[in-house]
Amino acid sequence: MNTQTISHLQRKLGNFYSEAELHLKAQAADEINQLKKERNALILGHNYMEPALYHTVPDFVGDSLELSRKAATTDKDIIIFCGVHFMAETAKILNPNKTVLIPSLKAGCSLAASITAEDVRQLKAQFPGVPVVTYVNTYADVKAESDICCTSGNAAAVVNSFQTDTVIFLPDEYLARNVGLETGKHIIFPTKNGVGTDTTLDYQMIGWHGRCEVHEKYTVEDIANVRAEYPDVLILSHPECSPEVVAASDFAGSTAAMIRYVQESNAPRYLLLTECAMGDNVAAANEEKEMLRLCTVRCPHMNRIRLEDTLEALRHTRYVVDVPEPIRTRAFQAVDRMLRIG
Ligand code: 13P
Ligand code: SF4
Repeated sequence: MNTQTISHLQRKLGNFYSEAELHLKAQAADEINQLKKERNALILGHNYMEPALYHTVPDFVGDSLELSRKAATTDKDIIIFCGVHFMAETAKILNPNKTVLIPSLKAGCSLAASITAEDVRQLKAQFPGVPVVTYVNTYADVKAESDICCTSGNAAAVVNSFQTDTVIFLPDEYLARNVGLETGKHIIFPTKNGVGTDTTLDYQMIGWHGRCEVHEKYTVEDIANVRAEYPDVLILSHPECSPEVVAASDFAGSTAAMIRYVQESNAPRYLLLTECAMGDNVAAANEEKEMLRLCTVRCPHMNRIRLEDTLEALRHTRYVVDVPEPIRTRAFQAVDRMLRIG
């Protein structure tokens, strides 16, 4: 085993793994890095990857937007997406001629599962001519029904890019409400009996009822309890949290924006209201800063992707992500429009 890898992991992650685990992780990381070269592969790692993966094998780590940009410009033959399925699909949408792999078939997302292409078609029939903005946390067939995608890093800019009175914003209810507050747009949620068909109603955004099963768990009470004990704590939340939680936080932004914020600020201690592996990753990268932990909130889908699964993915070229071409070309338009917004 490469002694550099084990000492790197001991230094960075000694608090998070036992010595025996660190040795196993270091061995897997070395094998992955070797195979990665042999196979001319690119590894993209989302900020929610387990610390041993996040700090060893990705060529790039980042939020959904940053990783989409990296996927769009790579010249490698294989892309291994260490993230959830909709992210790997986005990489395939952008790279139809490359092999895109995801290390587990079970890495879903509650937001992506909350809406179907048929739901979007029905909304479009209910609100003809209204542009559809779709969060990237959706599957390719939903993207294909959309005019443009967005991520948590650019949602307000994408909504503001439309000159129309109204946009449909899908599928995250909380992100929609947060974007509505940021852009000053009033938002309604249509119900089955057709609220919203009355054109005299004052609405500028039409939402959906999807939720992130991780971020919906955080409450204003959690924040009050932590502030009562640590009045000088700086609290950062993801915009998939409720608007009440975002309002009670000091900063809200995408995973990458939260990481930058911690790096650039000098608060004595931080609390990140997001998926908890990211808290570990940020703590390991900022040893001099104190991170408070509310560490029970691990995304079960992100948790499916570990170093061991990534090694198997490279060894066996699995699991190949494919998007049928007629869907891919339409989904591409929506993702590409988003990337052009910057
Ligand atoms: P980011 O785009 O902020 O990385 O978020 C992705 C995600 O799945 C958050 O739960
Ligand atoms: Fe989906 Fe939430 Fe997991 Fe992100 S954290 S992948 S939004 S379930």
